[in-house]
Amino acid sequence: VRVLFVSSEVSPYSKTGGLADVAAALPASLAAMNHDLMVVTPLYSQVDDRRHRLHPVFDDVEIKLGDRAAAFSVWLADDGRTWFIDLPQLYHRASIYTNDPDEHWRFVMLTVAALELCRQRRWAPDIVHANDWETGLLPLYLRAVFTDDLFRAARTVFTIHNLGYQGVFGAGIADDLGLGDQRYLLHQEHLRQGRIGFLEHALMYADALTTVSPTYAWEIQTTEMGMGLDGLLRRRAHDLVGILNGIDTTVWDPRTDHHLPANYSESNLDDKLVNKWALMAESGIEGGAEVPLLGMISRLVSQKGVELLIRPLARLLAEGRVRCVLLGSGERKYEDALQWLADSFPGRAAYRRGYDEQLAHLIEGGADMFLMPSQYEPCGLNQMYSLAYGTVPVVRRTGGLADTVTHYDPATGEGTGFVFQHYNEEGLTWALEEALAVFPDRKAWRRLQLNGMAQDNSWQRRAGEYDELYRRLVGEEPS
Ligand code: ADP
Ligand code: GLC
Repeated sequence: VRVLFVSSEVSPYSKTGGLADVAAALPASLAAMNHDLMVVTPLYSQVDDRRHRLHPVFDDVEIKLGDRAAAFSVWLADDGRTWFIDLPQLYHRASIYTNDPDEHWRFVMLTVAALELCRQRRWAPDIVHANDWETGLLPLYLRAVFTDDLFRAARTVFTIHNLGYQGVFGAGIADDLGLGDQRYLLHQEHLRQGRIGFLEHALMYADALTTVSPTYAWEIQTTEMGMGLDGLLRRRAHDLVGILNGIDTTVWDPRTDHHLPANYSESNLDDKLVNKWALMAESGIEGGAEVPLLGMISRLVSQKGVELLIRPLARLLAEGRVRCVLLGSGERKYEDALQWLADSFPGRAAYRRGYDEQLAHLIEGGADMFLMPSQYEPCGLNQMYSLAYGTVPVVRRTGGLADTVTHYDPATGEGTGFVFQHYNEEGLTWALEEALAVFPDRKAWRRLQLNGMAQDNSWQRRAGEYDELYRRLVGEEPS
């Protein structure tokens, strides 16, 4: 199956969160299954084109959209699969996402350029797979503007990675979209109310909808968690499926992770301690092996439950019962709260503000427990990295966290982590106390770690579900 996969971020070229990891690993796994994949993404100034050895393929490809015209160049990565749209006036900005007045246009151009690139290559996609609001207008453009033969057979898939970001703009941008007499395809009622939502239009027009875990697929159909789109999602329930993300084992495997001072597996799990010492030394944390070290790596936004964490953690740190290393950046108030923890408990708590790939790996490799008290979590990747690394996750039962972590039961020895239900400090405290009660029991803890490490969350396994979906859409029987 020929698949055009469009994403606003692709690891390792550009990344702010899990979408980048998925946009790298899923196409790679599908390509390994003999599908023909073309991944299209912007050439941001943040992409290190020298390090990644991108080569130029096309120059001056013209796009006309309504009465606007532009020309872009195209670069190809040496995986032969990832294509970059080079439009410096749009993609050379201080950050990947902006609040600039042309933010809508930056991603309309990505969407349209991806289709234009198919024309340029005379490459007829069977499946056009869009991700998140940035590429939400792709199905609409295929219906309204890119109606030539090349796209006649193309079926569209849209994946919701996070319903919290809907790409809603003022109705004034309608003129920029170049829809001409097809403008009636826009959501008329919302247009009258003065807004255009990119993600919403994907939900209206994609042939198939997916999201990144079965639980989240269900949750977003409820008024509580549907963020205003639950009605539309319920109407499309038959076309919506939850497929868990996987982890890229070429990047996240404790046996081969080159960021770790000591590689380890189930059979030499004691070597994980070497990483714990390294993480503590690097972060200025003092204490012995018997004091549990908690880790967290997160975009610091309200979704991630940072506000739940501060008081319970402060109490445990004050009592000297835990140590922690926290990594992340985002909203100022959360950064300040984590900084306050580090300042209040020197030698016990460390906080690194910013984005740090190396430290992220060391935290997974060195921490005893991993914190993910998310308010909502479409899938979440770090809890799966944690399971693979024998770093026991403490999570809230929501979205993909609910689908990948099970609460440890001391009676049976089953379970892979600690899971709480209610989104409040008491809930989190309960889970932490459960974990701290098991930690000193070395045998039980080892069992818990091994349970997690035995779980197969690889993309090799998960990509099969996309394979089936694609084949069904193009009218083939799944093999
Ligand atoms: P989300 O996409 O909502 O941020 P995920 O758990 O799916 O959540 O993915 C987050 C990804 O981003 C993981 O690969 C995580 O390691 C990475 N990440 C997030 N913040 C940082 C950071 N400050 N430094 C390094 N990696 C980070
Ligand atoms: C989103 C979600 C996260 C998910 C990621 C990749 O950013 O917040 O839960 O893992 O997308 O699908």
